[in-house]
Amino acid sequence: MDSLPCPTASARAAASIGAANTSSLKYRLLGADACVAEEEKKIRAAITATAHFLPDKVISNADLERLVDTSDEWIRSRTGISERRFLAEDEPTSTMAIAVAQELLARRGIAADDIDLIIVATITPDMIFPATACLVQHAIGASRVWAYDLSAACSGFVFAVATGAQFIESGAHRRVMVIGADKMSSILDFEDRTTCVLFGDGAGGVLLERGEDGAGMIDFELYADGAAVECLHIKGGGSLYPPSHETVDQRMHYIRQEGRTVFRFAVEKMAEVSVSLLERNGLTGADLKLFVPHQANKRIIDAAAQRMDLPSEKVMMNIDRYANTTAATIPIALAEAADQGRLERGDLVLMTGVGGGLTWGSALFRWGQ
Ligand code: ACO
Repeated sequence: MDSLPCPTASARAAASIGAANTSSLKYRLLGADACVAEEEKKIRAAITATAHFLPDKVISNADLERLVDTSDEWIRSRTGISERRFLAEDEPTSTMAIAVAQELLARRGIAADDIDLIIVATITPDMIFPATACLVQHAIGASRVWAYDLSAACSGFVFAVATGAQFIESGAHRRVMVIGADKMSSILDFEDRTTCVLFGDGAGGVLLERGEDGAGMIDFELYADGAAVECLHIKGGGSLYPPSHETVDQRMHYIRQEGRTVFRFAVEKMAEVSVSLLERNGLTGADLKLFVPHQANKRIIDAAAQRMDLPSEKVMMNIDRYANTTAATIPIALAEAADQGRLERGDLVLMTGVGGGLTWGSALFRWGQ
């Protein structure tokens, strides 16, 4: 490129950060008054493999009718859920996360030592510490990784994938494994019909690597608001209310929520953040190949899809079979979509999560497999 009159420092900075979703202009200074505008290709973190794991044990709505005062008709009509999977009582979350990690390695045809970082999004870790990600590391024999858990409830996978992508984009790492895994059956109160019918167990994950031909994460938008802690929480078992006879008697180790408040919040935020992320990248729902929303309630997903003007074939939905698996819903849905041939290289995919924290956010990818 020819040398140019040098823009002011602020104009140079604006040009450098302005185009988050494309290559950007960087200015190389030649002297006090001249510089060269150079196109700098952004490194993007592409999803190069997907995998998921679901326990074999199917729990139907009729099975729950035997535990609490509910009905198949109520659960289906209010949530869209027909059945869910429960892991065996003596198996922890890491069982599912390890299966996903092994499947990712097999599908990509790489060794555990090719991985640089493992992030596990979960609110049901095997133990308070060590991190479940460390247990995955040990089980797959990855000897040169670091590993940590990320806690953002139903937004956990979107938070984790956006975080993992930073290490690829910065050039710090070549391969990052991002897994969402939750054994929700371990924190459900089977005396509380308003929550126990909503959730299931499962895990899913992706491998992130440097993308080619523009494939990879284009942009993300993430939020948190701790003011709404009363709407959705587990209060017992942490440092605020350490485990005691009293916390157990008061059933404080189970998930509690204000269903209607969370419902309204999810309907609003799922659409709001999805539309915002598309708009700031000059896109609309028409540009998307697939919208992969967190699977909490069919009515929440339908409302978001409607606001985004998305026809049903562009919306990934499997809540009927697996219910809400918290951090796992989005990677399970992504893996199923990929396995079903619904995604081709170059397609635009938007994933959006809303959940405990409260937390919410979206990540936009150009498919790279
Ligand atoms: N079976 C039968 N009746 C039930 C059940 C049940 N399992 N649960 C509640 N009811 C009753 C209630 O007691 C209430 O009865 P009442 O009118 O006599 O008081 C009636 O059904 C209606 O209850 P609502 O709370 O108004 O039902 P609503 O249509 O809001 O649906 C639901 C409830 C499904 C929980 C909905 O509010 C919801 O999906 N909220 C979001 C919660 C969620 O997804 N949380 C997961 C974590 S956050 C996330 O993933 C986004």
